[in-house]
Amino acid sequence: MKLIEVKNREELGIKAASLISDLVRRKPDAVLGLATGGTPVETYRHLVEDHHANRTSYRKIRTVNLDEYVGLGTSDSNSYHAYMEAHLFRFIDLPAAQHHVPDGQALDLDRACRDYDQLIDRLGGIDLQLLGIGRNGHIGFNEPGSSFSIGTHIVRLTESTRAANARYFSRPEDVPERAITMGIGTILKSRQILLIVSGKNKAEAMKQFLKYSKPENDFPASALISHPDVTVIADEEALSLAGQERAGISK
Ligand code: PGA
Repeated sequence: MKLIEVKNREELGIKAASLISDLVRRKPDAVLGLATGGTPVETYRHLVEDHHANRTSYRKIRTVNLDEYVGLGTSDSNSYHAYMEAHLFRFIDLPAAQHHVPDGQALDLDRACRDYDQLIDRLGGIDLQLLGIGRNGHIGFNEPGSSFSIGTHIVRLTESTRAANARYFSRPEDVPERAITMGIGTILKSRQILLIVSGKNKAEAMKQFLKYSKPENDFPASALISHPDVTVIADEEALSLAGQERAGISK
């Protein structure tokens, strides 16, 4: 695992975007695994800037998103479909047929999960998966206790995750109770993983994460320890509680 320390969220966005756009230039038909939430907003902004300034093209890129709320459709502004449109898709030359977000409105959700894993296989697997981390160590919507070998599946969100995401909804009770998420098994099949962590409210999770020497189910992000190609970019606030813990990580 490689740890890149940056000053703040802005620098984090610049660094993460440059790693992603380098891959896009190197492999113009790469499969990118994308994430939503507060942390990747600057990353997407810098990808859009790079697309305009340097003409980095997404014409042959394929993308698969990590997760979606059950019950929210493309037209709902809180859906992750809408988030991706608002922050990235509408600004770049990625054809609509080539971006994929799990279908939270599928009538047969189990089937939608199976179809999503098959889609990823058909695309040739994920070249780079972008990830954030939850305060409880979740990745995607894989909450503590999740199996590390499971594929895309339906999860019941923990109250802490619903509370953390309530800021986007008009009323806390509007946060959906379930989501469809790539499983940790799906995530670990990605050839490269890029974990981005920013802010004081992630400092405890970051400290925990850096303590693990082997994967343990009570902290989902610890699954990444078993992966051969993980880069973590974290800012000063996120690393503010990690002293000793970060010493052994290669830089
Ligand atoms: P955040 O979410 O980027 O909004 O903090 C990350 C996550 O919960 O995975």
